[in-house]
Formats: sequence, C-alpha cells, structure tokens
Amino acid sequence: LIALPPAIFGESRQNSEGINIEIESEWTPFKTSIDVFNETQWQAGPIVNGERLVGKTLSGEAPACEVLAITAPYDRRESVGEVSFATRDLVIEAIDVASNAYPEWSQTPVAERAACLVRLADLLEVNTGELVALCHREAGKTIQDGIDEIREAVDFCRFYAHQAATEFAQPHIIETYDGATKQLTYQGRGVFACISPWNFPLAIFLGQVSAALVAGNTVVAKPAEQTSIIAFRAIEMMLEAGVPNGAIQLLPGTGAEVGAALTSDIRVAGVAFTGSTETAQRINRTLVARDCAPVPFVAETGGQNAMIVDSTALPEQVVRDVVRSAFASAGQRCSALRVLFVQKDIADRIVGLIKGAMAELSVGRPELHSTDVGPVIDKTARDKLVTHIQALKNRATLIAQAELPEVCQYGDFVAPTAFEISNIDVLENENFGPILHVVRFDAGKLDQVIDQINHTGFGLTLGVHSRNERTYSYIEQRMRVGNCYINRDQVGAVVGVQPFGGQGLSGTGPKAGGPHYLYRFTQDVYAV
Ligand code: NAD
Ligand code: ALA
Repeated sequence: LIALPPAIFGESRQNSEGINIEIESEWTPFKTSIDVFNETQWQAGPIVNGERLVGKTLSGEAPACEVLAITAPYDRRESVGEVSFATRDLVIEAIDVASNAYPEWSQTPVAERAACLVRLADLLEVNTGELVALCHREAGKTIQDGIDEIREAVDFCRFYAHQAATEFAQPHIIETYDGATKQLTYQGRGVFACISPWNFPLAIFLGQVSAALVAGNTVVAKPAEQTSIIAFRAIEMMLEAGVPNGAIQLLPGTGAEVGAALTSDIRVAGVAFTGSTETAQRINRTLVARDCAPVPFVAETGGQNAMIVDSTALPEQVVRDVVRSAFASAGQRCSALRVLFVQKDIADRIVGLIKGAMAELSVGRPELHSTDVGPVIDKTARDKLVTHIQALKNRATLIAQAELPEVCQYGDFVAPTAFEISNIDVLENENFGPILHVVRFDAGKLDQVIDQINHTGFGLTLGVHSRNERTYSYIEQRMRVGNCYINRDQVGAVVGVQPFGGQGLSGTGPKAGGPHYLYRFTQDVYAV
C-alpha cells in the first residue's frame, strides 16, 4: 500500500523506481462487491407476520397503499427500486400480530433471543456488499460511510446480545437486611414501536429493534420513508436469523400517517425514537394524549453541537478535526459540528487553515474514492440548507464555500460552506448538512461561551481543543452535553466504548450502545 494523494485504489501506478504496482486498500473489495448491485432494482414494502407485502395487502387483495419510486440522492435519473407504504389498517393488523406473539417471545429463553441477534450479525457481515450498495444508492452514503454503517449495526447486535445473555439470563440476587435473598428479574414490556431516521438507516434502525427484541418485547418498526429498502432487507435477514414471524413487523410509511397511527395505539407499550427534536415532541404529545398508562419513551434527537478552541490548541489538529466533524457524511450526523468557538488570539490562523482545507474538499458522486462529501438525503433537505445559506449570506461573513462540480446538478447536493457569525443565538434550528458556523471569543470570556451553548437547550456533542488540562476539565464539568470529546473530532461514537446520547432537547437517554440502554426496554419484577 502506498500513499499517492489523491490515490484511486485499484488503479495501476508506477512507483519511484518505475515499477508498476497495483494500489490496494480495504476499500477495493467493497467497491468491487457493490458494483455487482449497480443494476439491481429493489422491491420493498411492509413485512407483517413474515409476509412480504410488496404491492399487496395481508389478505392478498390489490394494495390500497401508495407505491413510491426510489431514486439515488446523487443522481435522480438513477432508479433504485420501489417501496409500498403501509396503510392505517395494516398498522392495526401489525400491532395485532405483535401483541399475539408477545407471550411466547417474552418467554423464549434470553439465550435464544440473543442467539438470533448473533446470527443476524453474521448475516449482515455475509451480505455487506449488498448493504453497502444500498447505503450508497438509497441513502447516498460514501463507500467508507457505508462500511462504517454495517460495522456499527453488527456491533449493536453483538453488544446487546452479549449484554442480555449475561445480565438477563439469571435473576439479580438482592440481599435483604435480615440476610434473606430476593430476586429481581427483567422482562419485556409488550409491543415496542421503533421509529428511526434515514441518516443511519441500518445501524440506528437495527440498534433500536435488536435492543427491544432481545429484552423480550415484540416490535413494530417504522423506518424513515427515505430508507425503507435498507430496512426491508435488514428485516428479511432478521427473519432468516430465526426471529419468529410474529416478533418483528415492518411498516414503511410516512411519519404523519404510519408513525402517528402506531404511536397513538394504546397497545404500544413503549416507543424508541431517533430523529428530530420536533418529531420527538410531537410523539410525546401523542403518548400523553392516549387514554392509558404512561409508557417509556426513549428519544434520541437533534443537536446544536459546538466545539471550543482556546489559544493553546494545535491549529493543524483543530482544523483536521473541524473538517471531519462538520463535513464528513455531508454534515448529516446528529453529532456533527455546527458552531466552532475560537479564541480570538488564534482565530485568524484557524480560519485561514479552514479556508485552505475547504478548498481541497471534493464534492461529488459518493462511490468515488476521491469524494469527501456526497449528496444530502433529498430535495427538501437541500432546499432548507440552501435557504439557510442564502439567508446567512446577507447577514454573516462568508469564510468559504466549496465548489460543486457539474455532476452534482443531477442530485441533491449542498456545497460545504463556512460562515463567521456573531453568536450561536443567530441560529434558530439545527442545520442538518455541511454548514459550519464560526464564532470568535475573547480570552477570559470562556464562561460566557459555555453559558451561550448551554442556553440553546440542546446537549448532544461538544468538542474541546486545548492543551490546558484545567481548561478542558472545567469546560467538561460545566457543559450540559451527552458526549464530550477532548482534542479529537466529535463524530463516530463506537458502540460499547463511547455510549452515545444527549441531554435536554437532544434526548432522554439512556445512551445507545451503553450499559443502561437495554434496561429501558424491560420492566423489573421483584419477587418477595
Ligand atoms: P425526523 O424527525 O423527520 O424523522 C424521524 C422518524 O420519525 C422518521 O421515521 C419519520 O417518518 C418519523 N416521524 C415523523 N413524524 C412522525 C410522527 N408524527 N409520529 C411518529 N413518527 C414520525 O428525522 P430525520 O429527518 O429522519 O432525521 C434527522 C434528525 O434525526 C436530525 O434532527 C438528527 O439530529 C436526528 N438524529 C439524532 C440522533 C441521536 O442519536 N441523537 C441520531 C441520528 C439522527
Ligand atoms: N453515533 C453517531 C456518531 O457518533 C451519531 O456520529
């Protein structure tokens, strides 16, 4: 392996001695295995009681549902396939099936439930080529992001399987004051609704579903409308891995129709949701309005993520981490950096380096190894981001905007853009794309910076760059955020190692991939 920037892996190049060498990387076999799916047209739809309802209802009649044509975010002329959306009637039928299956699944030994997840993890690995291809074609992910996505999904399945098998198989023994022992056992709650976003169409989707299932619940899953095909293939693999037909139901459809029908049904005993703060608030209102007992609501939501850089930071390291945190995955990570606070003493140097780094960013088709930034998910997202950029052009200072090559005209692309703004309060919403905002602050005004960030009410990720231990420890202790990253980038939390989730407007917890997550999907029973 040699480094020839920008190296196109798989190419033949001459080395310094004039000898032809093949440039290889881990990436090359993935590219080759996804090319097999270039012409594939996927058909997806609801899966209820194990039946694939692609273009038909459960009773076999012609579908009353909407059938949607899916095209690639990077080139809308490229067809990816078709998805049938569930109807409201099907939501009721799916909850019936899941309710009926609950007693048997909840009594299935936890080791068997966990074994299904381990087999699913194996199947995800065997089918990595197709899944990376789908992440690329349906969600517009780069190949590297697609590979990372499959790895994270596999990690969630194995992590929750292992935790359930070790912590739920036997009762927890509690010793009472008089020397007697009592038992605490963990059981499922009933039918869990799992509602997921498009930006991690496999990892978050399967993270929620596998946690709910292994904890003993049956599940009705509603994936994001933009990424229903990936979810459909994942559930097909889950059934192949041995999860019974009744235990998992898949309902593609819109949030307003299918999501609302699902969460308003009083038979739903818990909701796991990841998505925007506004949708979480809407679901919360729906749950409160139901005339039944309160149920657990796990909500992982949006952020207004900041990074604080003081004058002791290493500028080159800062800029490397800023560029990755703000622009990787086209800024479509909930963890992504939105507002960079830089101490004035080194601000000119940092801003200069950011300009230089942004001039090197390559925006384009996500299957090319040379591409740093691919498309955003759809036209609605693109229009919202472009409107924000236009508005800031009138009232903020443009630092840099990357080039959009001609090929981008066929897809939903947004040029990575950086602005200097006066204050984080200028931003009303989370801008879910490749847009960075920079705020300069005076030495001695660190407390005001911390207050401003806390004041937004969001609390997902925070980056800190400082070589002064007292400074970063002080910031860490005063900030109300879920995940604080010191002297590194602030995206890409690793399951089991960096439990992920926010505070305040950013989520309820417990953190995904952490030691407490599974417990929220159970009820504990104390036997006296
Ligand atoms: P979204 O809120 O628009 O949609 C999320 C899901 O909710 C989708 O499946 C959607 O169909 C469904 N939905 C919409 N309205 C509904 C309703 N009334 N009832 C029930 N379900 C409904 O979010 P999105 O655009 O898919 O995802 C991007 C957002 O997700 C960003 O805000 C991002 O920060 C957040 N996110 C957070 C995390 C985290 O871990 N904190 C991770 C990924 C994404
Ligand atoms: N868990 C994802 C990350 O850390 C959202 O980037």
